[in-house]
Amino acid sequence: MKPRVAVLISGGGSNMVKLLESMEGDHPAEPVLVLANSDSAGGLAKAQALGTQSDFVDHRLYGEDRAAFEDALIAKLDAVNADLICLAGFMRVLTSHFIERYDGLMLNIHPSLLPKYKGLHTHARALEAGDTEAGCTVHEVTAKLDDGPIIEQARVPILSNDTPDKLAARVLIEEHRIYPSALRRFVEAL
Ligand code: GAR
Repeated sequence: MKPRVAVLISGGGSNMVKLLESMEGDHPAEPVLVLANSDSAGGLAKAQALGTQSDFVDHRLYGEDRAAFEDALIAKLDAVNADLICLAGFMRVLTSHFIERYDGLMLNIHPSLLPKYKGLHTHARALEAGDTEAGCTVHEVTAKLDDGPIIEQARVPILSNDTPDKLAARVLIEEHRIYPSALRRFVEAL
């Protein structure tokens, strides 16, 4: 049976769309759910338009109780028998409670050349540092933030007139290319 993939998002979900579009035909995995941490995530409607079930768990209802929020996510994921989790712009930090549940079965895309610039504001930090190149990384998720074995990276040049937004747009084009390719490679190796 094909691994059943859930994609977790917080925003517009452009990476999620590329992942869903890639999982067609002879692809070795199938998408079963797009799950957001808010009903305002723009990607939810895009998932439905592509024929994938979408749902949300509003993190604000759980306050500081991250375990309860994560249990609510897990309940939604269990309801569709999700095997594999792809974080695609999911902007809530997950604890080991959630991560251990999907040990070795969770991927993330991060908009930097890890191990550089873990966390937020990656593009501004690359510009401030005077870097000449930036990029993105697909990696397996482990308990340490933006850590874990790297599956695929792509590099882009930093140009002299770059702003964080211009750089982000250039990096995003590469994200859309490497996330589907890394997912396929990861599933083929399972
Ligand atoms: C992407 O650039 C992704 O790499 C980044 O959020 C954006 C989501 O865009 N993720 C992180 O910063 C995770 N720390 P999208 O919703 O259009 O895919």
